[in-house]
Amino acid sequence: MQDDKVKARIDELINKINKASYEYYVLDMPTITDQEYDDFYNELLKLENKYPELKREDSPTLRVGGEALSKFEKAVHKTPMLSFDDIFNEDEIVSFDERIKKVVSNPVYTVEPKMDGLSGSLLYKDGILVRGATRGNGTEGEDITLNVKTIKSIPLKLNEPIDIEVRGEIYMSKKSFEALNREREEKGLPLFANPRNAAAGSVRQLDSKVTAKRGLDFMAYFIPNPEDYGIKTQAESLDYLRKLGFVTNHKLNKVAHNATEIITCIEELGEIREELPYEIDGVVLKVNDLKDEEKIGYTSRVPRWGIAYKFPAKEVLTTLREIKFTVGRTGKITPNAIFDPVHVAGSLVTKATMHNEDYCLEKDVRVGDTISIRKAGDVIPEVVEVKFDRRKDDSIPFEMIKTCPICNTELVKKDAHHFCPNIHCPARKIEGLIYFASKDAMDIEGLGDEIIEDLFNMGYLKDLSDFYKLDTHKDTLMELEGFGEKSVSNLLESIENSKKNSLERLICGLGIKNVGKRTAKMLAIRYKTLDNLMNASFEELVSVKDIGEIIAKSIKDYFSDEANIDIINKLKEYNVNMECLIKEAKTDTAFAGKTFVLTGTLNSITRDEARDKIESLGGITTNSVSKKTDVVIVGDSPGSKYDKAKELNITIWSEEDFINNSK
Ligand code: IVH
Repeated sequence: MQDDKVKARIDELINKINKASYEYYVLDMPTITDQEYDDFYNELLKLENKYPELKREDSPTLRVGGEALSKFEKAVHKTPMLSFDDIFNEDEIVSFDERIKKVVSNPVYTVEPKMDGLSGSLLYKDGILVRGATRGNGTEGEDITLNVKTIKSIPLKLNEPIDIEVRGEIYMSKKSFEALNREREEKGLPLFANPRNAAAGSVRQLDSKVTAKRGLDFMAYFIPNPEDYGIKTQAESLDYLRKLGFVTNHKLNKVAHNATEIITCIEELGEIREELPYEIDGVVLKVNDLKDEEKIGYTSRVPRWGIAYKFPAKEVLTTLREIKFTVGRTGKITPNAIFDPVHVAGSLVTKATMHNEDYCLEKDVRVGDTISIRKAGDVIPEVVEVKFDRRKDDSIPFEMIKTCPICNTELVKKDAHHFCPNIHCPARKIEGLIYFASKDAMDIEGLGDEIIEDLFNMGYLKDLSDFYKLDTHKDTLMELEGFGEKSVSNLLESIENSKKNSLERLICGLGIKNVGKRTAKMLAIRYKTLDNLMNASFEELVSVKDIGEIIAKSIKDYFSDEANIDIINKLKEYNVNMECLIKEAKTDTAFAGKTFVLTGTLNSITRDEARDKIESLGGITTNSVSKKTDVVIVGDSPGSKYDKAKELNITIWSEEDFINNSK
């Protein structure tokens, strides 16, 4: 073959391969099969081997890596590679918004997922990738050109023959990370702690052939001198990057106009975070209009026009100081880990439940141990594990107590739990009072657990009905620590308001054994009034959906105790509502009686709105897909729930189906 013919064929093959990569990585719409791709690739490889002088510097065959280096060259950044200041909570988002609004009147922000990898800079000349660099100290990084060329989502040639610098995140997907660690485990190599470390370790390989095998990815998010390309906003930068051939987060990047909208975006992202194929550790906020950015400017270190909000840490270490046993309202004894205060998932935490003796023995927790804490479901703190390598030699193994820590009565063990059998144990009464006032039950605001305990000890709260007598002890309340005229009147108002609660709150607050919030709601809907429930026979109760013999017996036991009837009569005298105020659930909709799971991003409605809608139409929403799920509603970028739904043959609705069915 003549040289110019070979050259033409090489050009043609590279064009085909680049087009296929663009369609696959950027547009998510492949147009050729893997086999066709491989055929083009192999033909190119053959021609390049035969005519090495015709090999192009943007050839996709470079993606396998090249000669190993002895060290990385330095790479100077023409424009410093800055990063943003970090913030950690909603108040700081509000302050950021306020700060910006002092300079520009109606700012628009881009809200972009914060990719958890390492930032990289890519230089293109005439549309060809000529240099890849790490951030380094911001002024000078390392030249990682050979390595970035192996990253398949980085175009070696742009769709336009321009000179440009592009910045973005080099990261490792969860899938590649797991595969890499699996392989390392098999080979007995040390594992990477997280995808970020794995990405950093892979990009700094002197042998780019190793990098090539690590399955790295790149997400573009920034052009240092956008005005050179006629760009006026950050959103336009992102669009332009995509047009050039970069993968951007176009489905998840959002715009917002104020702190509330930003927070909503963060919440929505938080909900789908686990389902994303890569790790994100927060969101990056940028003022959209470049003229506004200019007005807002920089501090000596960082841009003022943007900020990085970081999700709360998932797991933190602390020291276990004490194992404290508490007595619940049913007499159940719970060991609690009391540790040095630590910030977990946005709040300061000092204790975590350790459930029962078996749990403590299994984890082998000992006072003085270094333990790691996380929030289960991002809400309830839990002890993940003990760091045994940090354990002191003189630590004493956990031992379960034998008697009640409050009334000294000998404990009895039932299944996995220990109980204080003394029904007059003060701890049980206090817990019952706390539960009655809690959010799930009568929702009385302004009464902390300790105040309830004090009022019990002073004799003002002997039983549940005494909450409604507190207005006659206004002076005593005023004397309590932290209380003043305003807080006492707020408290009394909240107590008064609680009288109007729907029946399910009262049923829940009574503290009937085995009757929690959900069961209380079912009972309220079924029986409508407390009197009806009190009069229901055992057989009748058992016939109610989800109520078995154990719950039915607990209910009968509760209402056959004179002391309880006494309390209920007093509550009636105080005019506490005893009727169910929940409206009948709809039964004539496509949602009635069905269980729904949502996955992915919905465009026309938030998740909370979607849940409300489903419930208002008689459906139930849950978080995980199982055989009991009737319908899975799938938005953009759905996660594993979608796969599970397909596997289990569960009905799938698109957002459009959902909207149409709910009209
Ligand atoms: S913009 C001037 N956008 O988070 C700052 N950064 O401080 C330009 N990151 O170190 C960076 N996702 O490595 C930007 N969508 C995104 C990002 C992002 C992740 C990283 C980046 C930087 C830090 C922000």
